[in-house]
Amino acid sequence: MSIGLDDVIAATTVMSHVDGEAGRLIVRGYELDDLAAKFSFEEVLGLLWSGFHGLPGDDIQAELGRARFEAFQLLQDSLPLPGQLSAIEQLRYLLSALPDSVDVARQPLLAVAATGVFTAAVLRIRGGAAPVAPDPSMGHAHDFLRMLRNEVVPAHHAKALDTYLVTVADHGLNASTFAARTIASTQAGLFSSVVGGLCALKGPLHGGAPGPVLDMLDAIGSEENARAWLTDAVQNGERLMGFGHRVYRVRDPRADVLKRVAKSLREDANRIKFAEQVEAAALGVLADRKKGRVLETNVEFYTALVLEALKLPRESFTMIFATGRVAGWTAHILEQLDGGRLIRPQSQYVGPMPTPGVAAE
Ligand code: ACO
Repeated sequence: MSIGLDDVIAATTVMSHVDGEAGRLIVRGYELDDLAAKFSFEEVLGLLWSGFHGLPGDDIQAELGRARFEAFQLLQDSLPLPGQLSAIEQLRYLLSALPDSVDVARQPLLAVAATGVFTAAVLRIRGGAAPVAPDPSMGHAHDFLRMLRNEVVPAHHAKALDTYLVTVADHGLNASTFAARTIASTQAGLFSSVVGGLCALKGPLHGGAPGPVLDMLDAIGSEENARAWLTDAVQNGERLMGFGHRVYRVRDPRADVLKRVAKSLREDANRIKFAEQVEAAALGVLADRKKGRVLETNVEFYTALVLEALKLPRESFTMIFATGRVAGWTAHILEQLDGGRLIRPQSQYVGPMPTPGVAAE
């Protein structure tokens, strides 16, 4: 028995491999550094989906562009958004409205397109503006920022977001991917599986951490305050956001890719310098206070810095994570449907047994 399923292998996959001891992430045969340097988000989609049923044709950028347009048309049927929902709940609501009646072969494309289109639309509506229609001729990351800002997007911003989406596109059997595969294994459909992935992602122990990373930086305020603030937090049983990982026992390789992206974006180098000081202090506090555990920086710490530098609101961070990770969810769903079995583990019953001779009322 393994509570939390540490070290349990529940699927074979050709998608990605997380080597927690070496701090290595391999996506379909490519090291993360190579992937981030050389591939666009669309190329990673092609790589992840290759060999599986439900593939788009050769020009994924054009097909994804057309699918964004289709998603934008479907969006109109779901407006207005329920105002009492948070931003991520509004994205969940919109994705839930994708109909299973869509041609199965188009569903992966539409799910990826819709996550970006709906995220941009939700953020605009929350800012009091109307959603902006997609431009199918653009790259996904570039068009996402254009739909959000409704202005010409500098190429280095588009490139930075594209690298972010590539970096988070897939990561083994993380909680949201496992949730998506479990739902897919019941043959409930691709859109339901993607919604399940999003629901798992939004928790602070998974994809909900980067907004709170910035809250933590704000609360610390200055380098002098860092050690004392972080020590207090750990002593009070709080978790330092952006640190620790179930699989990595060394630094998360995605943190360094994103740190480089954040540095490339910043005109104000002081913010990164301050983040580095807080990071160093946090690692020191965790080493002192959590002896026997190896707690290193994870992907979310520098995710927060990249998305902040792109002037994206904190409430959007998990949605933008989903905009990248939906690539991995759809690929794993296709893989699960291609010969996978129903995922149905067992639990160990630790409740009372019926008392002989005592009938239930
Ligand atoms: N800050 C303080 N203590 C921590 C942290 C942290 N960030 N991470 C783990 N610990 C401590 C726990 O309190 C626990 O201590 P204890 O044994 O004294 O009680 C010990 O380390 C083990 O904790 P577990 O929860 O069993 O470790 P797990 O492998 O399940 O944790 C997790 C992984 C959930 C990511 C954890 O490190 C965490 O909560 N981090 C903060 C939130 C975060 O950054 N989430 C994003 C993760 S990356 C991603 O999903 C994309």
